Amino acid sequence: MRFPPSILDEIKMRLPVTAVVGKRVRLIKAGREWKGLSPFNAEKTPSFFVNDDKQRYFDFSSGKNGDIFTFVMETEGLSFNEAVERLAAEAGIALPQLTADDARREERRQGLHEALELAAAFFEAELGGSRGGRARAYLDGRELGPDVRSRFRLGYAPADRFALRDYLASKGFGREPMIDAGLLVSGDDIAVPYDRFRDRVMFPIADARGRIVAFGGRAMAADVQPKYLNSPETPLFHKGSLLYNFHQARKTARGGPVSSGPADTAAIVVVEGYVDVIAMTRAGLPQAVAPLGTALTQEQLGLLWRAADAPTLCFDGDRAGRRAAYRAIDLALPLLTPGKSVNFALLPEGQDPDDLLRDGGAAAVRAVVAAARPLVELLWAREAEATPLDTPDQRAALEHRVREIINSIQDETVRRHYRAEMNGRIAALIPDSRGPTRRSGYNQGRAGRDSRPAAGGFRRGLGTSVGAGAPLRASAALSRHPLFLRTKPADEPREALILLVLLAHPRLLARHCEELAEIEFTGAETRKLAAQLIDCAASHHDEGGPDPADGLAERLRAQVRRAGLEDALTRLRLLLRPGDTWALDPEADPADAEEMLRQVMVLHRRAGALNSELRAAERALAEDESEANLAWLRDVKMQLTSLEGTEADIDGFGHHGHLRI
Ligand code: UTP
Ligand code: MN
Repeated sequence: MRFPPSILDEIKMRLPVTAVVGKRVRLIKAGREWKGLSPFNAEKTPSFFVNDDKQRYFDFSSGKNGDIFTFVMETEGLSFNEAVERLAAEAGIALPQLTADDARREERRQGLHEALELAAAFFEAELGGSRGGRARAYLDGRELGPDVRSRFRLGYAPADRFALRDYLASKGFGREPMIDAGLLVSGDDIAVPYDRFRDRVMFPIADARGRIVAFGGRAMAADVQPKYLNSPETPLFHKGSLLYNFHQARKTARGGPVSSGPADTAAIVVVEGYVDVIAMTRAGLPQAVAPLGTALTQEQLGLLWRAADAPTLCFDGDRAGRRAAYRAIDLALPLLTPGKSVNFALLPEGQDPDDLLRDGGAAAVRAVVAAARPLVELLWAREAEATPLDTPDQRAALEHRVREIINSIQDETVRRHYRAEMNGRIAALIPDSRGPTRRSGYNQGRAGRDSRPAAGGFRRGLGTSVGAGAPLRASAALSRHPLFLRTKPADEPREALILLVLLAHPRLLARHCEELAEIEFTGAETRKLAAQLIDCAASHHDEGGPDPADGLAERLRAQVRRAGLEDALTRLRLLLRPGDTWALDPEADPADAEEMLRQVMVLHRRAGALNSELRAAERALAEDESEANLAWLRDVKMQLTSLEGTEADIDGFGHHGHLRI
């Protein structure tokens, strides 16, 4: 590090952010902060905030935030060193002189950067040139078209042993920097160093600032080993501390929720390979990154947490993938801090994102990411799955094991909350602890004991299903865990949402009563409740009145109470995704609530139709195991998955509108 942190702090002390930013952006006071029009985006209302206490700025229009150094880097295109030099001069602070050694090292690194950049441009040109025909055909075959080729700067390394060497030599580079940059293979037993990458499709790897530091090269023929060849470790490239595409991903990523409901599909997503990152981008998730041929490291996790609060780690749904996910739990637990976590998304067995995109389209990929679950659930799945939990002894062993694991969490606050959560889950395994209000129902296990919204947050999770059935074999409950097996349709939460929105906004009930009557409710409680609503709205309507919604709210409440459905309401509330609950606020914008209602009703009708079709396809397949019937079933399932993807997109709809700053 060229500048000791103390000097950087000193500069920040002397130059308030408002002073640096104020030269570019007109700022006006807003409480303890200052605000102005974003310098990063054209906008009419200010969404750019500066806080001198925090020594930072926040730009809500682009998601960018940073300190004085990043501000001048971003707005004036300076490097970090240049930014520090500029601001130090402004603050009147003398910087330590570079030693001659430092300067030489700096110069050498600069040379490597230049060689690598030229190599990337060379490979790109070769892909477009006369020698690149087979590579172009290969990329065409994988549906990697011109858009992604240029976005990811894909290239082709010619088969010739000296193609790149000769090109770089013609640009004045000697052998040393080419070897140091990892571009040539050299060694005591190699008389003439030669190009490392030959006859391969090239994926340039950039550092966090977007400078090319390495390459991955893919063989095009199936029999060429290795399939992927990466640059070796070099002064610029340490594969454990870089992530493929991080530079671009951080620009588009949003924070993502920490251990709550369905994942924010804008949080950074980690996949396994280069082509998977590109597949994610094609599926509309450009914030994807990949480690470089190894398991995720601590350092990479630290990098991810700089760009997102809860990055989503994506794994294959097969055994190996699950084991990899479980290892990632052990990596993350000790490092958790308040506000930082990870979510897990599991792909259909045996498919990587690239396969899934080809088979199921963008919606299927997005659905997988949207269905990501918090760390705590995967941890619970891992531990509770390991053994049966029928006897006190087995549960004691589980408790003991879980306690040990939780002790690996270094942050005291996080550890305390994990302990409380796990104790609650373990307690819920005990048959008699399920509380007095036992009823059959999707969510009764925990809801009966306490009605913390957190319990409802596991709408599709384990906390709910473990207590639900009479046999307490967690492994059975786990085999139904939607992370691993997504068969349980999301009908009931959707039904709950429709009814609760109508209850919260009686005016909407008056307007949508007929549509409501046409909906087929699958849950026993939702069916009863819907009948009450329709009944009440219809009789209210018959009696007339100046405003169809006048007094309807009171009548509804009374009717629900009389029908003994108040507990049912509580339970239904717990089925909602956290992102949807805003619509139950009677103060919520009625237009937003109506739009959400409309969309949910459409989805529900479509899901109903698809579910009938699913049953038909299953029957057909049972009678005749033909390819065609199999394809039919697969197609319907895919459509259901993509429907869930759509649903996840609607998730939080209107919510952001209420977060306006
Ligand atoms: P795989 O070889 O498992 O991917 O490597 P794949 O899906 O079968 O490859 P494609 O789709 O046919 O191209 C997964 C990823 O691991 C990294 C690469 O990023 C690769 O995309 N990897 C693998 C390396 O970086 N180096 C290696 O030697 C191997
Ligand atoms: Mn692949």
